[in-house]
Amino acid sequence: MSDLSHLRADFPILHQQVAGHPLVYFDSAASSQKPRQVIDSLVHYYEHDNANVHRGLHELSNRSTTNFENVRKKVASFIGAASDEEIIFTRGTTEGVNLVANVWANQFLKPGDEVVITGMEHHSNLVPWQLATQRSGATLKYVPVLDDGTLDMAALDELLAGPVKLIACVHISNSLGTKNPVQEICAKAKARGITTFIDGAQAVGHVPVNVREIGCDFYAFSGHKMCAPTGIGALYARAEVMDQMQPWHGGGEMIETVTMERSTYKSGPARFEAGTPDIAGVIGLGAAIDYLERVGLEAIQEHGRELTTYALEKLVALPGLRLLGPPIGVDRGSLAAFTLACAHTHDLVEFANTQGLALRGGHHCTQPLMKRFKAPGTSRASFYFYNTKAEVDRMIDILQQAIAFFS
Ligand code: ALA
Repeated sequence: MSDLSHLRADFPILHQQVAGHPLVYFDSAASSQKPRQVIDSLVHYYEHDNANVHRGLHELSNRSTTNFENVRKKVASFIGAASDEEIIFTRGTTEGVNLVANVWANQFLKPGDEVVITGMEHHSNLVPWQLATQRSGATLKYVPVLDDGTLDMAALDELLAGPVKLIACVHISNSLGTKNPVQEICAKAKARGITTFIDGAQAVGHVPVNVREIGCDFYAFSGHKMCAPTGIGALYARAEVMDQMQPWHGGGEMIETVTMERSTYKSGPARFEAGTPDIAGVIGLGAAIDYLERVGLEAIQEHGRELTTYALEKLVALPGLRLLGPPIGVDRGSLAAFTLACAHTHDLVEFANTQGLALRGGHHCTQPLMKRFKAPGTSRASFYFYNTKAEVDRMIDILQQAIAFFS
């Protein structure tokens, strides 16, 4: 396995004891930890450059604006967008979905239309589409999930033959780890003139992502799952699609002219970024991209694959453990979700916490998916490049103790 353990030195938070044990942080799918370089970028910004963007003509504002807009370019390049004009800064993936499910959906959905999602969507890529279809009179349909945690692609083909206006699909499932064939899905949709939205929350910063290769119209992601601060993310909107979209929030800096009766609006991402943005968050996002690019996305992906396979092989050997998601050997995101016959997930996660191990337990904001797999919830171990095989061994040891304790 590519040894990235030297990078742990960059993450101050990892070097602590929890309940008298060394912290093992296996909850990066919920939120990743931040390297010193990202933390320092925030301090540097506030100590040297802090001023509002796009508004001032003074030195600090000019500097702040230049740094802010440079990050837009970095994001565009990081995800393979054709231009920084296709990148809207958001608070995160959820806001990206809601922007499209309000603006685009309000303009283009009408009664009789259909929106297709999948049975493995996070609530953030489900509830906004429920609201949008309820408002417009359109119908919401979903692609079922097969027993092996993959999408029923035959059902998808049938669904796409209907009067579908948009398909929204998660790139990597936060609950199962399934890596969906988003390029194939977008090609099928495009052949029928269907607009495509991809939720990339668990993908960006974990695997190489290129929105033009995927061929999607929209792609949303969050900074905090890829070493950046919380509260910042981005929405890619293909230029031709963005150009058709009306404003969302009204306010400063999204306008060209304002009279007491009406306003005209800027083109490009500015139209969707009313008010003072999270400037420091954007600076931190830029620092996170620099950091991840130095490590290398291929190396991060490979590390994730190997560590996940290592963990899965050990997990399935535990008595009473049921693994959800694709079988071992199928390429998936860096996480393992499971149930133990002897313990409720919340009890297990609390037990793990007494040993310094951070897991996530519950429905993971995917209640329909839990129902589909007849699981009241799962325990989830999610990994990032700063995790090690020794930590996986420690988790297995703790799970063995838990099995002895609860049985
Ligand atoms: N979506 C995040 C998770 O899966 C919060 O934990």
